[in-house]
Amino acid sequence: MNGRPPIARVSATARFLPDQVMTNADLERLVDTSDSWIRERTGIRERRIAPDDITAVDMGERAALGALAKAGLEPSDVDMIVVSTATPDRLLPSTACEIQSRIGASRSCLAFDISAACTGFLYALSIAEGYLAAGRGETILVVSTEKMSSIIDWDDRATCILFGDGAGAAVVQPSRNGEGILASFHRSDGDLAPLLQRPVGGAAKPLTEESLRNREHMLLMKSGREVFRSAVRSMAHAGNMVMEEAGLDVDRIDLMVPHQANSRIIESTARYAGIPMDKVFVNLHRYGNISSATIPVCLDEAEEEGRLVPGSVVLMTAFGAGLTWGAMALRW
Ligand code: COA
Repeated sequence: MNGRPPIARVSATARFLPDQVMTNADLERLVDTSDSWIRERTGIRERRIAPDDITAVDMGERAALGALAKAGLEPSDVDMIVVSTATPDRLLPSTACEIQSRIGASRSCLAFDISAACTGFLYALSIAEGYLAAGRGETILVVSTEKMSSIIDWDDRATCILFGDGAGAAVVQPSRNGEGILASFHRSDGDLAPLLQRPVGGAAKPLTEESLRNREHMLLMKSGREVFRSAVRSMAHAGNMVMEEAGLDVDRIDLMVPHQANSRIIESTARYAGIPMDKVFVNLHRYGNISSATIPVCLDEAEEEGRLVPGSVVLMTAFGAGLTWGAMALRW
């Protein structure tokens, strides 16, 4: 393996999933769909749904505190908090500032949100890596928290079957013993924004009674098929670019952690990358697509299950609205 020595490592992860389970059978009672259609077309069996009184900040706070505890750190040790979310509690101020206050991180820390939809966790890890590379801090908290149920049109069977709620967090610190980010590749294509968006509710088109009635402030997916094709193509390409940059042969990958949107997307992406499915982490059947929280939740579960141990090489790939996509190879 060649490539540059890593700068930043993930020293701990944690997750929070709400208790309430929504099964495909529950969805059959809401829209014209069936358990068999959802399982065959997506691989999803159930997802978690947060109750009204648990928000993205609440879930992010719990994941953040969990990750700090596992790393043996205090909130006062954190130099920067980067939050990725498509479902902030409010538009201003950022979810990150609220999480900073909740966890009691000190005022010498800076906190901000990024908007990169499902790719947000990988983008945020790269921002953390850059901040460490610039010598501006030692401990960065990346939090991905998503209350997707709050932006879903529960009458739209094309989207309401796909998503779930949850949060994941990672502590990012300077590398040691060759552990950390080996290579990354991130891209976006704003020309494809109309494929997946919330058309109304921003400054360009503020909410009106009519748009509320028409649910135009909810998540709208134009063509599931096109999103599907773009997801496979872009994640496969990003994964290959990362393996090439890190000088990693495919058999050096111990675990692939792809974004969990659809089992057929996962299988096609793994096939393109040449990675057998027994090396691919999948929890989609239990949680659906938790947007940017997907990858940190997978990492945390993979470590707990012993599928990630110190020295393991993990290849992560993600894809989402924007469109955005990316991949990252990391030695655990
Ligand atoms: N239940 C039952 N039937 C459904 C349905 C549902 N929940 N959703 C769509 N259908 C119907 C369609 O209306 C269509 O019917 P028609 O043939 O009579 O017109 C048929 O199923 C096929 O629809 P299509 O969209 O072509 O199915 P698909 O095989 O592409 O699967 C997705 C649809 C959404 C599951 C799939 O395209 C996908 O996962 N795309 C990626 C979406 C995604 O991941 N978005 C988030 C990115 S981060």
